[in-house]
Amino acid sequence: MVDFAPGMTLAEQFRAHAGDQTHLYACAMRSMADDWEAGGPIREVCAGYEMAPPRLMIQLRLLAGIFRLVLTDRAPELRAFYPCLGGHAPPETAWPVMRRVVAEHVAELHRSLQVAPQTNEVGRSVALLAGLFDLVEAAGLVRIRLLEVGASAGLNLLVDRFYVSGDDWEYGPPDSPVRFERAVQGPVQPYHFGVTSRRGCDLEPVEITTEQGRTLLTSFVWPFDLHRHRRLAAVLPLAQHNPPVVDAASAGDWLSGQLRGAGEPDELTVVWQSVTRLYWPEAEIAAVDRLLNERGAERALGHVSMEYNPSGGQPELRTQLWLPGRASVRRRLLGTVHDHGIPVRVNVA
Ligand SMILES: C[S@@+](CC[C@H](N)C(=O)[O-])C[C@H]1O[C@@H](n2cnc3c(N)ncnc32)[C@H](O)[C@@H]1O
Repeated sequence: MVDFAPGMTLAEQFRAHAGDQTHLYACAMRSMADDWEAGGPIREVCAGYEMAPPRLMIQLRLLAGIFRLVLTDRAPELRAFYPCLGGHAPPETAWPVMRRVVAEHVAELHRSLQVAPQTNEVGRSVALLAGLFDLVEAAGLVRIRLLEVGASAGLNLLVDRFYVSGDDWEYGPPDSPVRFERAVQGPVQPYHFGVTSRRGCDLEPVEITTEQGRTLLTSFVWPFDLHRHRRLAAVLPLAQHNPPVVDAASAGDWLSGQLRGAGEPDELTVVWQSVTRLYWPEAEIAAVDRLLNERGAERALGHVSMEYNPSGGQPELRTQLWLPGRASVRRRLLGTVHDHGIPVRVNVA
């Protein structure tokens, strides 16, 4: 976590985020800070954002805007610095080139500051899978209606199209282009299930069938996180051919519509969420909790969540299960998960 003190200038925020790291973005953030203070093109790009609070992460919005110029071939001179595009040039030599690119695209980069960081990390589907195994075993239902809140582009809704293995088990199509090998540690029992329908919502869904949507998602993955780029590149064609529906809506409003009615008797509705609750206002958190408890009294309902505990640490993987005729809710903390999903560490048998 970056430590941002109150009242920091933009330049101080950029330097705090860079710390003493040496990768491309850290080098760029330090140079952006100097350029902002010296009144260079970064100052022009950030005009009007001088008082932006750290939570807006202006530096990440700007770096993603620059990355989109590279991805769309409008800054080919920068490719040499982007490892995910095959570049090997030393990051500490990038700034003069990057500064020229920034100066040539001030208006577009200024607009890019409006675009909030938006990632859809498909590694987190491994946590969903472990949660689904737990619910399928306990509910004895194998037909799953999958709903995701805060779904971004909905990539994790395709969980059953990915190949996942643990120490002594495997799941999913062996020839899937999206593969997570030995991705779950601990006692996991795989169960067969079928996804009968899938749908998600997000405040700002990413449209995966458009070039623009795919470029947007790619631009927020740091260019030297090669394994994340490989994962995203593997899932994008699959998602393009099987695009999950993601409605533009907030979690509580959308769930109240989706959970109306009694549901099919032989189907388990599962609500899934990952790394979204920290962005929700208190009222949203309360509304979703209330809805799950109310609708769980009327139908078989499961909940899988991979969310940070407000007191810190790695995201926790939790399940909840409501079954008709059963008075109490089954709640389990299955284990912890790496921020990007892998590995999932299950520590309950
Ligand atoms: C860090 S992303 C995680 C996306 C996806 N769940 C994943 O793990 O890859 C958080 C997502 O939550 C969405 N979001 C934030 N507040 C929301 C709300 N109140 N209702 C629905 N979605 C929300 C954001 O738009 C963003 O797409």
